[in-house]
Amino acid sequence: MTRPLSSQFPPLGAFPRTRLRRNRRDAWSRRLVAERQLSTADLIWPLFVHDGTDRRQQVPSMPKVERLSVDLLVGAAGEAKAAGIPLIAIFPAIDDRLKTPDGEEAVNVDNLVCRAVKAVKDAHPDLGVMCDVALDPFTTHGHDGLLREGYVVNDETVQVLCEQALVQAAAGCDVIAPSDMMDGRVKAIREALDANGYEAVRIMAYAAKYASAFYAPFRDAVGSASSLGQGDKKTYQMDPANSDEALREVAFDIAEGADMVMVKPGTPYLDVVRRVKDAFGVPTYAYQVSGEYSMIHAAAERGWIDGPRIMMEMLLGFKRAGADGVLTYFAREAARLLNGDK
Ligand code: PBG
Repeated sequence: MTRPLSSQFPPLGAFPRTRLRRNRRDAWSRRLVAERQLSTADLIWPLFVHDGTDRRQQVPSMPKVERLSVDLLVGAAGEAKAAGIPLIAIFPAIDDRLKTPDGEEAVNVDNLVCRAVKAVKDAHPDLGVMCDVALDPFTTHGHDGLLREGYVVNDETVQVLCEQALVQAAAGCDVIAPSDMMDGRVKAIREALDANGYEAVRIMAYAAKYASAFYAPFRDAVGSASSLGQGDKKTYQMDPANSDEALREVAFDIAEGADMVMVKPGTPYLDVVRRVKDAFGVPTYAYQVSGEYSMIHAAAERGWIDGPRIMMEMLLGFKRAGADGVLTYFAREAARLLNGDK
């Protein structure tokens, strides 16, 4: 909550009676007055899956992040469960030969992401599993929707996204996360889920998703970078200049049935997280995206910053800004520190 200005600017003369450093003097009192805490329950771990068995492949632009075959993904999901991470997000890197202009593979009930969800839910039924709804891993052009004369069309795309959400729900996905930024998609997906008996499946809307240069390493990871080429997503993702508009996006998604909303990217948009949380008070998440992750690793590798400390400070920053949780590629590493593991 925003406090009145009067309490933020104490009257002159308060010092030396008041000394703000007193509470900072010892570790116990710093802990006692801490306003926010990061816990493993705040972490959502994005994972990349690809075809094959016992096959892992380093993502070149994301240190320590690998594409995993389904069997190895199940192992990683087990680690998440054991570490107390409530939810993982599965992203597919599919074979280029399965990509088409209209991304039909997205609605194949037996596609890679559906097989991955089934395997994870079979092995770990009480771990939450989330999937993106968007066509970019499946299209030859790398856009999130159907391209008609160079423009991603809205309403026709929404119909396909509903089908995509249904095949993922059928595979056992717990949280459907539309990341496509089409207008009206949350309403349509909610209706489709309910009409097919999936009223318990949650929707986490990528509500305020910006057209950002911070997604570049992710696009390498799922193999959509070369498809998109010099293209950008500015006709559907938000302009980084705007935050009033973010509130409108969030308001629509909540009204349309979103259970949780997300702001993305994370750190450069913490002001948006704060505004959303203050305005709506709904479960609000931030996505610390691939570019943020890789920048921290790059600087840490050069010895310019202390990687683990920066990681924890930035994750706590999300909590301070009002986020209820963070999608982060650091989830496993952060959980290790939080759990006191080596
Ligand atoms: C796909 C999607 C993207 C991300 C999550 N889902 C990329 C994009 O919109 O181009 C980015 C995640 C990241 O950078 O870590 N719609």
